[in-house]
Amino acid sequence: MKVLNCYSLKGGVGKTSTAVNLGAVAAADGWRVLLIDLDPQGASSFLLHHDHLEGAGLGEELQKKKPNLLRPLRATNVDRLYILPFNDRTRFFSSDLKEIDSLEIRVSKALSSIDDDFDLVVIDSPPTADDVLKFQLLATDLTLMVTTVSPLALRATIEYLTHVRDQYRSNAPHRTTLQMVETRSKRHLELIEDLRKITALNLTRSVIRRSSLIENMALERIPTVTAHPRSTVAQNFLSLWRELDLLS
Ligand SMILES: Nc1ncnc2c1ncn2[C@@H]1O[C@H](COP(=O)(O)OP(=O)(O)O)[C@@H](O)[C@H]1O
Ligand SMILES: [Mg+2]
Repeated sequence: MKVLNCYSLKGGVGKTSTAVNLGAVAAADGWRVLLIDLDPQGASSFLLHHDHLEGAGLGEELQKKKPNLLRPLRATNVDRLYILPFNDRTRFFSSDLKEIDSLEIRVSKALSSIDDDFDLVVIDSPPTADDVLKFQLLATDLTLMVTTVSPLALRATIEYLTHVRDQYRSNAPHRTTLQMVETRSKRHLELIEDLRKITALNLTRSVIRRSSLIENMALERIPTVTAHPRSTVAQNFLSLWRELDLLS
């Protein structure tokens, strides 16, 4: 089982849209996928029709001696795509688990409870550098930094790479994907060429274009790649998924 974390220190850059669509693309590719919604805004839970999780969620499972993430997860309207919705207790799990070592053990126990049932876990992260980040870093095989082509979003990405990652002692590899790219804008295309020279970003070749279909996902409440598989933006997600090549 692989764990992919969609992350940014900044909000509104397209993490949720990326997590939901990559999860759906992977599911269409035959992978059994669990999307974990760690963001208190609960956007991916909402998009996949599980706005509010009644009962125990990730936070409670992490407290247990034998955590079992199969309990709180829910099916979605996409085959092979499941979600562990956000619930209010998720917000508190990190403050209850101050000891990094104990968190490490709990996270690995929690993930091993679903190891036989899933091929991929996608984490939809909150834009935070607090303890929740530890959970993400401990669990992750690949961090996918999501950013727009804007100076502030790029600054947040570089800030993460230089400080946060060191502080939390993570060796997990990362890639950076540009979201909401205006593929007809000369300025965007020139900027992207410059960004490719910053090797620390480790930019993916694939970019995700700006598309009203993604905005409409909040109304349709179906991943864009599922509802509009032939659209250019769906093809962007497919090419990103292939490029990440998580099997290798
Ligand atoms: N490729 C895109 N094209 C157009 N709008 C997008 C795209 N990706 C995200 N958005 C919109 O931008 C806003 C923030 O996206 P979201 O995925 O929720 O970001 P985050 O999870 O980082 O806060 C949402 O309104 C979403 O619909
Ligand atoms: Mg989000």
